[in-house]
Amino acid sequence: MNGARSVLAPAGPAARILAELGWPLLIAFLITAAVMWGLIAWVALRKRGTFDEHAPSDAGGGLGWVIIGGFIVPGVAFTASFVATIGVLRGFPVEQEQALAPEIRVIGRQWWWQVEYRGPRLADHFVTANEIHIPIGRPVDIELATADVIHSFWVPRLHGKVDLVPGMKNTIRIEATQAGVYPGACAEFCGLQHAGMRFQVIAEGADEYQQWLERQRRPAIAMTDPQASRGETVFMRAACPMCHAVAGTAALATVGPDLTHLASRSTLGAGWVPKDIATLHAWVMNAPSLKPGTRMPALTQFTGPELHDLVAYLEALR
Ligand code: CUA
Repeated sequence: MNGARSVLAPAGPAARILAELGWPLLIAFLITAAVMWGLIAWVALRKRGTFDEHAPSDAGGGLGWVIIGGFIVPGVAFTASFVATIGVLRGFPVEQEQALAPEIRVIGRQWWWQVEYRGPRLADHFVTANEIHIPIGRPVDIELATADVIHSFWVPRLHGKVDLVPGMKNTIRIEATQAGVYPGACAEFCGLQHAGMRFQVIAEGADEYQQWLERQRRPAIAMTDPQASRGETVFMRAACPMCHAVAGTAALATVGPDLTHLASRSTLGAGWVPKDIATLHAWVMNAPSLKPGTRMPALTQFTGPELHDLVAYLEALR
């Protein structure tokens, strides 16, 4: 049960409470299923022969089976699991009033995750996408909202599902007890690429987290490599800045993911493909062929050298 996506392998307090409910319910289900299949097998096998050998059966018997098996046993089982579930549900999700000032705001979009980090000062704010870094060993509150339809935020090893509902804010409190990469996904059908709406939560030590924050808060570095510098020109002249932002440049749009530190992220297209030089080329040229339905259009106007320069620029956005 060590799967990266297993709710029965909790890596934080919220997921542990859910697993402590999940295990007994799973075991109870398995026992019920075993008894049920046993009875079905017994019924199927107990009498063999022709119809003549079996006179019409006595319809008056068997009431004990109905009362015990049909009412008492399910009644006790359902009541016990209901009471246990209500007890666990009371802790979720975190009410707005109880929440710490959420450090992170996640906005669901078709089909990716906008991640906004907040801080006490305006200079601490930054925006990223599809990767959420958190420090280990302390609770982190995340505000959940959506820009379009209902999505659901789910990191199985850290917490249950919490929906992102139009016009509403929900808050989720996650905490990871061990460092690691915890895969997450959208858990509410939201259109063509619902299954391709993934993300990662990266839990790391306090120092590492602080270093990550500091790097992310900086605007994009000035391009010193000539190819990357040419690529920046290509980027700014093409359609890219109409959808994407790169902090510290003239690109400020918020339609698509913020690209300021794109090179520090490990995937493209919301966890769809690993980010490497080949997928960057393919994504820029024809993203819909890689991920059908993505809002990123195919950009076939670049010449070969322009495309290489553009990818060099994207790879330099560390
Ligand atoms: Cu977003 Cu399913």
